[in-house]
Amino acid sequence: MHVLLPDLPDFRALADEGVPGATFGFYTREHVPDGPADGAVLWFAPPQVRAQLAARPGLSWLLTLTAGIDHVQGQLPPGVALFNASRLHDRAVAVHAVSLMLSASRRLHAYRDAQHARTWAAPTPVTRLPDSGLTTLDGRQVVLWGYGHIGRELDGLLRPFGADVHTIRSATPREERDRLLALADWVILLLPSTPDTQHIVNADTLALLKPGAWLCNVGRGTLIDQDALLAALDGGHLGGAALDVTDPEPLPGDHPLWTRENVILTPHIASSTGDLLHRGARLTRDFILDLDQGHEPPGRVDPSRTY
Ligand code: GLV
Repeated sequence: MHVLLPDLPDFRALADEGVPGATFGFYTREHVPDGPADGAVLWFAPPQVRAQLAARPGLSWLLTLTAGIDHVQGQLPPGVALFNASRLHDRAVAVHAVSLMLSASRRLHAYRDAQHARTWAAPTPVTRLPDSGLTTLDGRQVVLWGYGHIGRELDGLLRPFGADVHTIRSATPREERDRLLALADWVILLLPSTPDTQHIVNADTLALLKPGAWLCNVGRGTLIDQDALLAALDGGHLGGAALDVTDPEPLPGDHPLWTRENVILTPHIASSTGDLLHRGARLTRDFILDLDQGHEPPGRVDPSRTY
């Protein structure tokens, strides 16, 4: 089988090492080799490269080394099997979500701001402690909105911190969903971006949250109506927001979210680790070996899924 890979060192190494049953071509951000291919592995490719890969004659599968599939939805010819790679990312994204929650619970964002101002911002005298905002996750009601690979990983990480974890899934009835949102100290968004999830967090949803609740988004920026979020932050209803994803990305330099004291922003790096490329190449190798041995590799997704 002929497979197109990203022209990155770890994938070149894969080809040098050899994978039984496979030959390789390499694409860059500027160039996609001509000719047929059986499969393509997608990573960090701009839209025109993705379109060219999807249009290779003979293509029967496409593996995107991401958890999300929104960047390929609607672009695949019928009959091309789509696979994602949630297992490459679930641990890091779950760890990042916990990191954001712990940072907010210990108010590290505020102490970092105070550090830059060379201010000793201790809640003294002790009578100020009740207003300090300092908490742990013990007894906190945490609602995971979306419960796939990342949700299950996050669930396991949160329980030893004493959090009470609840889940909202696609089958959760609206009434139950709203009941859970109303009891949450934390709502963690883990949903994909689809037409059904666009602005699923809007003024109405935010109004359901109890005062002081925090929102964390490690899914996709389009899940949140950011104007409504800003209104909820500025009105003092929300405790704060911890966002790894925004809409658009990068967030424009003059966007108000940058300057809100109770907003923690990271630049869509929740799934990044130093060894991500290496792990992506190893996953690709296992994937091709599965195909070569006649097994369906893990990660098959329905490109028309909406939630
Ligand atoms: C990252 O956002 C991914 O979908 O893997």
